[in-house]
Amino acid sequence: MGIRTDLRTIRHMAFPRVAGTTPAERMESYYRSTADDYDAFRERLLHGRRDLMDLLPAAPGGHLVDMGAGTGSNIAHLDERRRKDFHRITLVDVSSSMLDVAGRRVERCGWDNVETVLASATDYRPRDGQADVVMFSYALTMMPDWFAAVDHARAILRPGGTIAVCDFYVSRKHPAGGARHAAWRRHLWPAWFSHNNVFLSPDHLPYLRARFTAVHVRERLSPVPYLPARVPYYLFIGTKD
Ligand SMILES: C[S@@+](CC[C@H](N)C(=O)[O-])C[C@H]1O[C@@H](n2cnc3c(N)ncnc32)[C@H](O)[C@@H]1O
Repeated sequence: MGIRTDLRTIRHMAFPRVAGTTPAERMESYYRSTADDYDAFRERLLHGRRDLMDLLPAAPGGHLVDMGAGTGSNIAHLDERRRKDFHRITLVDVSSSMLDVAGRRVERCGWDNVETVLASATDYRPRDGQADVVMFSYALTMMPDWFAAVDHARAILRPGGTIAVCDFYVSRKHPAGGARHAAWRRHLWPAWFSHNNVFLSPDHLPYLRARFTAVHVRERLSPVPYLPARVPYYLFIGTKD
């Protein structure tokens, strides 16, 4: 971490290079030149990830699937005993550059139950049965078909399995419950993040609530490095009935 890395990241965010005709190609082109710098800046931008990992249920012998896992940093936030409890942890991502960083981390840390898989969250399937836990950490906002990714997660989860999500969002203008964000927040942040193909939605939380039984929901505001404003993020843990 350092000012040079920050400046490189900020320059990339201000002038993102995105090419390709499919969402996967666009994602890889976005991350190709910055995957090695990713963790340093995101540690201060993407809040709630440690809490999400702490809230994952124990699943001894189970299979955890991290959709849009990026560099695999979330697994480092799982304590050793809980990581080892999982029979298998699969890091799924469409960006090979991000998965290269994740693969090097897996090797360096000697995580022998963790694998990386280059695939989309809308079509990855566990090769031996159903998943016990599926998580998305700051990934749904980068998936144009986020609703299909949520539906697919539900399809590959065993009955009683857990979905765990944390991401940026904005509230609806008239939410049925929970936080209601001021108009400037509801307009500013989606416009700001869409420049980097991150699409904040008022519909994630209502959709997750509709598809799963909510176990834990948290709505918070988090600081943004170098900016005097805070951005809303949520954390959702739910089970498949
Ligand atoms: C902001 S990063 C989050 C990475 C990691 N989960 C974290 O919390 O740091 C979003 C990740 O989602 C991946 N991604 C985007 N669309 C995807 C899709 N359809 N299937 C799988 N991964 C996807 C991107 O390549 C990227 O690595």
